[in-house]
Amino acid sequence: MTQTALITGGSSGIGLEVSRRLAGRGWRLLWVSLKQDEITAAREALLAAHPGAVIDGIALDLAAPDTPQRVFDWAETQGGCDLLINNAGFGVYGPSASLALEAEQAMIAVNISALHALTRLFLPAMTARGGGTIVNIASNSAFVPAPDLAVYAATKAFVKHYSEALTAELEEAGSPVRIMTVCPAAISDTPFLKRAGMEGVRTFTSFTATTADEVARDILAGLDQSRRFVLTGAAMRRAMWLMKIAPAPVLRWMTRRETRRV
Ligand SMILES: NC(=O)c1ccc[n+]([C@@H]2O[C@H](COP(=O)([O-])OP(=O)(O)OC[C@H]3O[C@@H](n4cnc5c(N)ncnc54)[C@H](OP(=O)(O)O)[C@@H]3O)[C@@H](O)[C@H]2O)c1
Repeated sequence: MTQTALITGGSSGIGLEVSRRLAGRGWRLLWVSLKQDEITAAREALLAAHPGAVIDGIALDLAAPDTPQRVFDWAETQGGCDLLINNAGFGVYGPSASLALEAEQAMIAVNISALHALTRLFLPAMTARGGGTIVNIASNSAFVPAPDLAVYAATKAFVKHYSEALTAELEEAGSPVRIMTVCPAAISDTPFLKRAGMEGVRTFTSFTATTADEVARDILAGLDQSRRFVLTGAAMRRAMWLMKIAPAPVLRWMTRRETRRV
C-alpha cells in the first residue's frame, strides 16, 4: 500500500531533498509551505524526475495559530499520513535587541508552536491508524546558546528537548508512534542561509558544514534504522566528541566564533 508523508517546508531545501528520495521510493507527498509559486515549481521539477509521483501541496502560513488544525484537517481529507516531517522553520540573524519583535515572534510560532501543535494533532491520529513516525527537525544550534542566533537557537533547543522527552514517554507507554529528532549541521546550499541574513557567517564554511543532500541521506538512513536521534552530517558527528569533552566556557567561545561573520 502506498505510504503518505506530510512534510512542512517540503518544497525547499532539506524538505525537497527528502521529498526526492521518498518519491523515488514510491511515497505519496503532502507539502505545506508558505509560497504557492515555490510549491508549484518544486512539484513540477519533482514530477519531471519521478513522473508517477503523487504530490499535493497547500500554501499556508504556519505562523498563524489556526494553521496546524487546517493542515491536520486537510491531511485527514487526503487519507491521513504515515510520516510527518516537521521541517518548516527559519532563522533571523543578529543581536536579539536589534531584531524586529514580530520577526522573532513569527520564528517562535513556526519553529515551536506549529511543530508542537502538529505533533499533538497527528499523534492520536497515527495511534488510531496503528502506527506512524514523526520527524522533528531541530539543529546543531540546539546544543549551546548562540549569540546572534539567540531566539533561533532557543527554538531549536525546545524542539530537541521536547522531541527527545516525547520519545521516552511514547516508548514507556508502548506507543506504536515513534519520534525521530534530527539535528542538522549548518547547510551551505539551501535558501535558509540567505533568508536568515547569514551570508558570510563562519559556521556555513566550517569543516562541519553539510549539504541538503547529505542531510536528506542521513534522515532516510535514520528512518530505515528506526533511530531516535540523527546528527547530520559526517563531519559534525566527528566533531561531536569535542562538544562532549569541552568545558562550558570553551564550548561557548567556539560557538560564538562559529556564529560571527568571517
Ligand atoms: N540550513 C541550515 O543551515 C539548517 C541547519 C540546521 C537546521 N535547519 C532547519 O532545517 C529546516 C529546513 O531548513 P532549510 O535549510 O531546508 O531551509 P529552507 O530551504 O529555507 O526551507 C524552509 C521551508 O520552511 C517553509 N517555511 C518557512 N516559514 C514558513 C511559514 N511561516 N509557513 C509555512 N512554511 C514556512 C519554507 O516555505 P517557503 O519556501 O514557501 O517560504 C520552506 O519550504 C528548518 O527548520 C531549519 O531551521 C537548517
